[in-house]
Amino acid sequence: MAGLKIENVTKTFGDYDALSNVSLDVANGEFVAVLGPSGCGKTTLLRLVAGFEQVNQGTITVGGKEMSNPKLNVPPEQRRVGIVFQNYALWPHMSVSENVGYSLKVAKVDKAERDRRILEALELVDLQGYGDRRPANLSGGQRQRVALARCLVSAPSLVLFDEPLANLDVHLRASMEDEFASFHKRTGTTIIYITHDQAEAMALADRIAVMDKGHLVQFATPRELYEQPATPMVASFIAQGMVFPAKVLTVEENGQCKVEVLGQEAVFRCRPGQGVTGDAKVCIRAADIIPAAKDGIEVSVKRSIYRGGGSRIEAVAGNETQELHFDLADPKRLAEGETTRIAIASGWVIPEANV
Ligand SMILES: Nc1ncnc2c1ncn2[C@@H]1O[C@H](COP(=O)(O)OP(=O)(O)OP(=O)(O)O)[C@@H](O)[C@H]1O
Ligand SMILES: [Mg+2]
Repeated sequence: MAGLKIENVTKTFGDYDALSNVSLDVANGEFVAVLGPSGCGKTTLLRLVAGFEQVNQGTITVGGKEMSNPKLNVPPEQRRVGIVFQNYALWPHMSVSENVGYSLKVAKVDKAERDRRILEALELVDLQGYGDRRPANLSGGQRQRVALARCLVSAPSLVLFDEPLANLDVHLRASMEDEFASFHKRTGTTIIYITHDQAEAMALADRIAVMDKGHLVQFATPRELYEQPATPMVASFIAQGMVFPAKVLTVEENGQCKVEVLGQEAVFRCRPGQGVTGDAKVCIRAADIIPAAKDGIEVSVKRSIYRGGGSRIEAVAGNETQELHFDLADPKRLAEGETTRIAIASGWVIPEANV
């Protein structure tokens, strides 16, 4: 197993910065998810770590050994880094065992040793007994596990996943998620896992790296990202946080601030040591919005979406243009065009509102 240290890495394609000054320190055995909008540089980051691309600036160190800098690019096969892509591309004419053992055959590992390691890899992904099948006779999830076994057979110290579940249906995704979690628990392999699925990232990862336009914006635990987003981008990207302009009126002790938002005063959480009063941006979650009596904020309902057991209400306050949303439990209902009153019970003062 090995940790991964990415320091000040920049990657340009022509004059386009696909990655700008990215630093990421992943501990030995950690499970890190990478989240971010399409085109933000996630795959590029993995390709650099695997050695398929060379960095323009910065360094990449795996297990204490420097693998990449502008003058050095240790070839992929010498990095002990395994990679599993979204389209797992198994060879259709080979059996499962042949697929898994192919890299060992190329490396001229002798037959007995090869067979032993193939069996071991198939056991790790719970596919013992499937060695003689062809990929065509496997389910999507089983094929994905063969791809994982093929990566594990060379005993990588670090495994990179690029959206490995994107092609699978919802049920299969859930059971594969369990497989990945138990694989990680069993082996303690360091894992970097790219996904578009936030719930998946939250469920699996020790820490999540959020990227935007080639920059690393925040690297924190799932809970911290949700409760204390560092920027408006993270606030709105993670779990559809609502970002509103606000005024910080006073900074209290123990990480609380009195703010004015949507014309009302409320006590929000803020970073301890937050010294700034005045204009700010805040993140409000659906769960922070509660129905209120007559002195609440008046909102008019734009849309009510039934969600089973309750509805998600989309509404706007007064003259605002920006929508807010909250959940309304059955049997209460609100129809489009109705007005109602809400209170904002809590929220978070975004520390880096200007980035
Ligand atoms: N070989 C290349 N040559 C030129 N531009 C590239 C190359 N590879 C990637 N890019 C550009 O770099 C940016 C980042 O691409 P990347 O594939 O890393 O995004 P991503 O975050 O993985 O996106 P997605 O979620 O859609 O997979 C994109 O704008 C892409 O067009
Ligand atoms: Mg990608």
